Order: sequence, then structure tokens, then C-alpha cells
Amino acid sequence: MDDESTRSKSAVVIRLLREEDSLEALTGLLHRAYKALADIGLRFLATWQDVEITRQRIAEGTCFVAVIDDAIIGTITFKMPHAGHGVPWLARPDVGNISQLAVEPAFQNQGIGGRLMRHAEEYAQGRGLAELASDTSEQARHLIAWYERLGYRGVDFVQWEIVNYRSVVMSKSVTTG
Ligand SMILES: CC(C)(COP(=O)(O)OP(=O)(O)OC[C@H]1O[C@@H](n2cnc3c(N)ncnc32)[C@H](O)[C@@H]1OP(=O)(O)O)[C@@H](O)C(=O)NCCC(=O)NCCS
Repeated sequence: MDDESTRSKSAVVIRLLREEDSLEALTGLLHRAYKALADIGLRFLATWQDVEITRQRIAEGTCFVAVIDDAIIGTITFKMPHAGHGVPWLARPDVGNISQLAVEPAFQNQGIGGRLMRHAEEYAQGRGLAELASDTSEQARHLIAWYERLGYRGVDFVQWEIVNYRSVVMSKSVTTG
């Protein structure tokens, strides 16, 4: 017989963002999730971005949401390789990357973030990519360690103009066999 935690885990569904999903709600989720980073002085874009920026960032890729009982409690945006940002690793034609990764604070530490990452990895693999990358503040040791536990390794550094920290680019092979 299922216990409550098993039922709650199995009820989380990852799906594409839909037209009718509220970007206001999604932006609120990003702010709540990233607040802990703002509180330690790291001004990630998602700590303060408005709805229009959320919309623009989603338009750069494919946005997935984690949903439980019709409520969005997590999100990740996958982006195909693209040049123009001056980061050689991210410009590689076989390296996708993710952004706007967040899980509602009350639902963190239940494996949902890991599921969102695996979903993006499978999506990248399905598009013939060799690697999936993400980047985070080099000061966010806990996030770097989290990515490392998921199999990511540091491959580069980048200083985005819009944030107040240097970022480390983390990447993982998504090819099998
Ligand atoms: C980073 C973030 C997305 C991770 O999401 P999450 O859902 O908490 O991630 P997970 O639950 O998969 O992993 C967190 C921990 O919970 C553990 N965990 C996984 N399943 C679990 C379960 N069923 N029960 C208890 N713990 C579990 C994981 O092992 C992991 O432990 P670790 O940190 O020691 O590796 C989330 O913390 C977040 O939104 N942070 C703020 C925004 C942010 O930092 N975004 C990334 C910017 S680069």
C-alpha cells in the first residue's frame, strides 16, 4: 500500500509549459525559490526578474514545469546550442544548456529538481546533443556540489554582465553507450 510520501512523489508530473499557464505565477515561483540566493547576496536574474523577462527567457528555449494537483511547483528551461554569448563551451554545436531551474521551497529536497534535470538531459539526448550544461555562481558551493552529485563537472567560467558574481559552467555527457 502506498504511503503518503510515495503518493505525493508519484503525483508530480513534468510537462511542457502551456499557453494557459500563468507566467506571473511562474515568476513568483522563481522569486521564492531564488530568495535564499538573494539572501546570501547573489543577485541571480531569477531573484528579481519581472514577468516580461521570464517570458523572454522562456522564448529562448523549451520550458518544462513540474506540476502537482494542477499547481506548478518546479520549472526548467532547456536551450539548444547557440552562439553569441561569448562562452565557447556553450557555443559548441553539441552542447545544450538549461536556465530558470527552480523548485518551490516547500517541495525542495524531494527529488523534483533532480527529476527536472534528468528530463532536460533526456530531452537533450533526444535532440542528438552530446552534453547538457548549466551555470551557477562560483560562490554557490552547495549548488556546485549538487550538480556534481548529478554527474556535472566544471568546464569553464563566465562573467555575465547582469549578475554580481562569476559563474562556473557545469556540463554533463548525455550520451549513452
Ligand atoms: C537547486 C534546486 C532546483 C534543487 O531542487 P530540489 O528539488 O531540492 O532537488 P532534489 O530534491 O533533487 O535534490 C536535493 C537533495 O534532496 C535529496 N533528495 C532527493 N530525493 C529525495 C527524497 N525523496 N527525499 C529526501 N531527499 C531527497 C537529494 O539527494 C539531494 O540531496 P543533496 O543536495 O545532498 O544532493 C532547488 O533547491 C532550488 O530551486 N533552488 C533555488 C534556485 C536555484 O538554486 N536554482 C539553480 C540555480 S543554478
